[in-house]
Amino acid sequence: MKNLLLILVPLFLCINSFIFSQNIGKLAYGKKGMVVSAHLESSKIGIEILKEGGNAFDAAIATEFALAVCFPIAGNIGGGGLLVYRQKNGNIGSLDYREKAPAAAHKDMYLDTKGEVIKDKSKNGALAVGVPGTVAGMYALHQQFGKLEWKKIIQPSIDLAKKGVIVTEKEADKFNENQNEFKKYNIHTPRFINDKKWKKGDTLFQPELANTLVLIRDNGRKGFYEGQIAALIVEEMKNQNGIITLDDLKNYQPTFRRPLIGKYRKKTIITMPSPSAGGVLLIQMLQMLAPFDIKKLGFQSEKYIQLLTEVERRAYADRAKYLGDSDFFPVPIDQLLQPKYIKERMKNFSFEKATPSNETKEGTLMPISEETTHYCVMDEEGNAISATTTLNGAYGSKVVVKNAGFFLNNEMDDFSAKPNTPNEYGLIGNEANAIAPNKKMLSSMSPTIVEENGKLQFIVGTPGGSTITTSVLQTILNIIDFEMNMAKAVSAPRFHHQYLPDMIDYEATNPNFTKIVIQNLEKKGYYLKKRQPIGRVEGIKVLPDGRYEGGADERGDDTAIGF
Ligand code: DON
Repeated sequence: MKNLLLILVPLFLCINSFIFSQNIGKLAYGKKGMVVSAHLESSKIGIEILKEGGNAFDAAIATEFALAVCFPIAGNIGGGGLLVYRQKNGNIGSLDYREKAPAAAHKDMYLDTKGEVIKDKSKNGALAVGVPGTVAGMYALHQQFGKLEWKKIIQPSIDLAKKGVIVTEKEADKFNENQNEFKKYNIHTPRFINDKKWKKGDTLFQPELANTLVLIRDNGRKGFYEGQIAALIVEEMKNQNGIITLDDLKNYQPTFRRPLIGKYRKKTIITMPSPSAGGVLLIQMLQMLAPFDIKKLGFQSEKYIQLLTEVERRAYADRAKYLGDSDFFPVPIDQLLQPKYIKERMKNFSFEKATPSNETKEGTLMPISEETTHYCVMDEEGNAISATTTLNGAYGSKVVVKNAGFFLNNEMDDFSAKPNTPNEYGLIGNEANAIAPNKKMLSSMSPTIVEENGKLQFIVGTPGGSTITTSVLQTILNIIDFEMNMAKAVSAPRFHHQYLPDMIDYEATNPNFTKIVIQNLEKKGYYLKKRQPIGRVEGIKVLPDGRYEGGADERGDDTAIGF
């Protein structure tokens, strides 16, 4: 026995130290910092900035620009995003660098003469584009919190755009899927068009984007919102019936906002306020779940699936009715989060049968693209940033600004083009989220930070359109209730319900949706449908010994790097 122990103990210690020294991959550890993002190159660039003495804000900015180069499906300078941060001293905040409607936008801009939504108009082409917010957002973040020089932070992305990015298999597939649309929505030939078909290992060179980034490097936000690039954006608009003007660009301002704060068990949940619906829904759902012993129900057991579905159904029904840009519409946040209201919402919940959303069995939920991207950064001092950035759909409006080399978003589709008419993500909305000049379209993006007793515990977020909030919710439960490590928590199978359509969508590979579970749920009145992967969650946890544990979703090329 003693001999066996003499072998086993060192072996265990050896494996343990090997595992915990791993600093790159789907699961990574670091003492001094961590970056988790959708691509190896962007995570590397973020980490390099930390190694050069930058703080987490510098690294987040570098990662955001790098994503615009190496992950053009969602990384962007032509889109926008939402982020929450926590400084080393415990101060928290959020930055809204969401796109906004151009000044010439109006409520019925996507309707025909009969008042019907014109298919595709809010989704592709120049009219689908909201005024981009990313460059202004990053510039404001740097002005407020940056430590390294702006130029130093932008330079690695310029170098990457010039040197070229090696295309992964997943990216080649996505480029190929979108070739016809790239041709349809551009009157020039952007770099992303490749008549020989893209394949893994090809190099994507982006000299035009490099030039755009040089202007941003040298002139800050003005390098994008004024001068040459602004003129090129407006020219693109004129050529393709878009409505963004030079004034729209010049006037764009990001906004620092007070985050929404909620409680779940002993944890404090710090998340995104308006123009995201994500934060409110997340806190609502966690409050509805709090009275239940989730762990006891079992991970994705029949009862767990039921409970989450019913909670999601109720929260998303509120989203459709009450939520929109709170700068334009009185969103009743306080009422929506009142414990009494939450209790009332769950009053008719029963494990015996479903609470139908309506009598319609099938809705129109899209199985299509879900391309946005999330990244997380923490530094040695304990600054933490959780950011979700987006063009909305894959490659946004598909419009690439000629001679400037970047995609413009199609964020206008996040507005409700007509009451109760589903958008690309099957989400419906009403007056609260109707189009108005300069208004921000409602988002689901839910970058989140979790604390306990005033101490940073973990940060998390994901892309996924309407599924963002339910993916963040499930990841939080995976960590808090099921005590998973970060890699497991972000990659665990997921499912989703959004009130309408009245459908539980579950990942085709989810092993917990067995025949029996499906049959039992159907008997209780639930409708279920298999679908493609849900979300690409990234997260970083602070371990009890102070090290960082990064988790990158196995569903993509996502990479965590620690040091
Ligand atoms: O802000 C939103 O909610 C959407 N524009 C996000 C789109 C998205 O996540 C696409 N996904 N992967």
